[in-house]
Amino acid sequence: MSRVIVIDHPLVMHKLSILRDKKTGTKVFRELVSEIAMLMAYEVTRDLPMEERLVETPVAVAKTKVLSGKKLGIVPILRAGLGMVDGVMNLIPAAKIGHIGLYRDPETLKPVDYYCKLPPDVEERDIIVLDPMLATGGSAVAAIDAIKRNGCRSIRLVNLIAAPEGIKTVADAHPDVDIYVACVDDELNEHGYIMPGLGDAGDRLFGTK
Ligand code: PRP
Ligand code: URA
Repeated sequence: MSRVIVIDHPLVMHKLSILRDKKTGTKVFRELVSEIAMLMAYEVTRDLPMEERLVETPVAVAKTKVLSGKKLGIVPILRAGLGMVDGVMNLIPAAKIGHIGLYRDPETLKPVDYYCKLPPDVEERDIIVLDPMLATGGSAVAAIDAIKRNGCRSIRLVNLIAAPEGIKTVADAHPDVDIYVACVDDELNEHGYIMPGLGDAGDRLFGTK
């Protein structure tokens, strides 16, 4: 069964509060999405494997630990997932970046896919899927389906805000995928928007509304 890890660090909560505010403009919104993604990445990568390394300091030899070279990949779901990329890449700059293009049909709320470009060795990588919003869960399930079709078996999902409905949909479809969120909100409204949420993440990031 998927684990749901709520990253309710005070800095994350504070920034999320400003992000939700309808008075927060595009520039600050973009900065906050990136900063929250970076703070979340710290927790999402907590269990990365390590190996011992001896390092000569100016005065002695230190027995240290370094990352064991596990290959990572991040996959933002377009458009809004793009806002999380820089923050995560600040912490794991060697990761490769794939892209999955999906938009929600406003009538059916079903995801419509229009782009998929993943690292060629995706099956060897631990993949972190990025999307600020997990609403019905349709987009996340479609993205994870696509990544698995390309052979990848190690996937985790990172969302800023999730609805309970979306968590259940992902957990039912992909019980092997852990879900990292900053907050689980109350419900979806009749248009499939997360309540209280933050509105349309893509539009607020890119100033298209
Ligand atoms: C938003 C969001 C997710 C999706 C979540 O994208 O970024 O990808 O909706 O909804 P779901 O869980 O019900 O599938 P949107 O479809 O608005 O596309 P955009 O990022 O291009 O604006
Ligand atoms: N997509 C968004 O951007 N916001 C929501 O609340 C739901 C889906």
